[in-house]
Amino acid sequence: MADVDAALDAAGLTNPHVREYVKYWAGITGAERVEVVGADDDARLVQEALDAGELQPVTGGRTYSRSYIKDTARAEERTIVATSDESDKGLYNNWQPSDQAKENYLSLVQGASEGKTMYVVPYLMAPQGSPLEKFAAGVEITDARTVVLHMIRMARVGVNYINELAEPDHFVRAVHVTGDLPNLGQGTPDDKRYFYTIADERTILHFGSSYGGNALLGKIAHGLRLASYDGWKNGFLVEQFLLLGVKDKQTGEVHNIVGGFPSASGKTNLSMTLAPDTLGDRYEIEFYGDDIAWLWPGEDGRLYAFNPEFGVFGVARDTNEKSNPTAIDAIQPGTGTIFTNVAYNEKTQEVWWEGKTKEHPTDLDGWLDWKGERIADRSPETADEAWAHPNSRFTTTMANVPNLAEGYANPAGVPVDAIIFGGRTRDREPLIRSFTDVAEGVYDGLTLGAEATFAADGLEGVLRYDPMSMRPFMSYGEGDYAQHWLDVLGKTTEKPIFAHVNWFQRDPEDGHFLWPGFRENVRALVWLIESKNGLVKGNPTPVGMIPTKDELLLEGLEIEPGDLDTLLTIDIERWKQEIGYREEHLKQFVGLPEEIWEAHRRVAADIDAA
Ligand code: GDP
Ligand code: PGA
Ligand code: MN
Ligand code: MN
Repeated sequence: MADVDAALDAAGLTNPHVREYVKYWAGITGAERVEVVGADDDARLVQEALDAGELQPVTGGRTYSRSYIKDTARAEERTIVATSDESDKGLYNNWQPSDQAKENYLSLVQGASEGKTMYVVPYLMAPQGSPLEKFAAGVEITDARTVVLHMIRMARVGVNYINELAEPDHFVRAVHVTGDLPNLGQGTPDDKRYFYTIADERTILHFGSSYGGNALLGKIAHGLRLASYDGWKNGFLVEQFLLLGVKDKQTGEVHNIVGGFPSASGKTNLSMTLAPDTLGDRYEIEFYGDDIAWLWPGEDGRLYAFNPEFGVFGVARDTNEKSNPTAIDAIQPGTGTIFTNVAYNEKTQEVWWEGKTKEHPTDLDGWLDWKGERIADRSPETADEAWAHPNSRFTTTMANVPNLAEGYANPAGVPVDAIIFGGRTRDREPLIRSFTDVAEGVYDGLTLGAEATFAADGLEGVLRYDPMSMRPFMSYGEGDYAQHWLDVLGKTTEKPIFAHVNWFQRDPEDGHFLWPGFRENVRALVWLIESKNGLVKGNPTPVGMIPTKDELLLEGLEIEPGDLDTLLTIDIERWKQEIGYREEHLKQFVGLPEEIWEAHRRVAADIDAA
């Protein structure tokens, strides 16, 4: 049994409420040792993880981890938001009464950490000094060293963030117990994984995974899911949004954009993107965040936002020098990057994933796939299997991102000029359409329909609605959520412009992406800013303004003219059908505000009249 007091004293952890919380869970889980960690412990912990075989070395001081094969993505159906108020039940949050959740969790983790170290990770999910700092402090306790190493990259970590709280008891209690991964029945009727957020008690109780999206509790469970509940109760918004600035290098003007795209649909790439060469003299994208934004109405009447994170947890697939040179820079030797579930060469200590280079390495010697199986030993049946898991990831700290905005840690946040939604939509959605009406903007977010991706277990390719890209993180009822959006934006006097973007429209015959994507996406953002500033008129349609061909800066773009035409037109028949689907979708939301229904009827009537 661990001497918890001694461990906490040694680390200078003085907050009595944190001490009590740690002791409680050390007792329940039966951890043998307790260790408080901060960012300074990184090098030592990396070495320990290498020595223990939890990580493998990658050239240039980077590392590699392979997860249990059935533990590679978020598990949405196992994720539960519990409260003591049944009216918090929504369509997507898998609501349960908190007593039931807590009782079940206790039975799962009793004695589960015997013989293990329990790491105590105090963190802050906000720039220091932020007006929302009160909601940002937390302490994750975890029995997995690699989770600690990810947390150190993804959040501000150290006892200083927890010792001096204005309200010492106001921190998120985030408990992570890995469990015996090979014996949890993942994906079977006897699935033993439970990922609970007890939202009204600001407590997170996760059991059964060490995958980032399930185990980095500061990031997703607190920074997104629980914080969105806090935001609802306290007048701010928390969204799965990228946050970037479009800088005009000639005028020095910067316009900030937040963007909600479902997991693995292009947020990280867009926020790190480099403008295409022909636009590069004029425009630059500044990185603030790639996955989460907290937004609130500022005193000057504008909407403000910051990124609560400290690092990037990015999808590896198709990241290369051409698609995203900025991301490649952010994970190069010397960055301390951790790669997860990519392919690994145990002789040369290199990593590879599909799309890193056109062809996989020709010399197969030393290469292992993401499951740890030798590529050279593959049979003809398995020869074509991917080397890396589609949801393989890199984890790197924000300081490594070359286009990091100067003011990224400014506690005042940045004013938001535009809110965009997007996803993998193979038809219907044009390259970009913009609109200014707030209710229509919220309506558009609520009806975001896209193909689910490999970032969630077992759902790849399924077409579904993913409101504001928050479906996996929704913590309360959708009707209340919509009203909260209207309320927060209603407090602003200078409204952001809205847009819907789609980089993923496909040719119905051969399936190729009509739009080349990646760096070229900057062209659509520039059009949006120009449209906000009244510099372009656009082509009006029932679902918003779309660019004319003359307005899009096309110089240097390689695209089939027919493809471009399709990207810049609206398929009215297809939209008529969509309106019917939307109606069914929205009807499921209890208490949806009348303003949203009005927006829906307006759009429907305009489409009918077209
Ligand atoms: P996030 O999870 O929303 O942050 O998405 P990422 O930026 O990590 O991208 C997820 C996957 O989509 C990666 O495999 C990217 O290579 C791919 N992707 C991102 N942007 C584009 C794009 O503009 N076009 C295409 N075709 N693929 C993209
Ligand atoms: P993503 O982040 O949106 O970049 O995929 C992780 C997640 O949402 O699971
Ligand atoms: Mn995400
Ligand atoms: Mn991302």
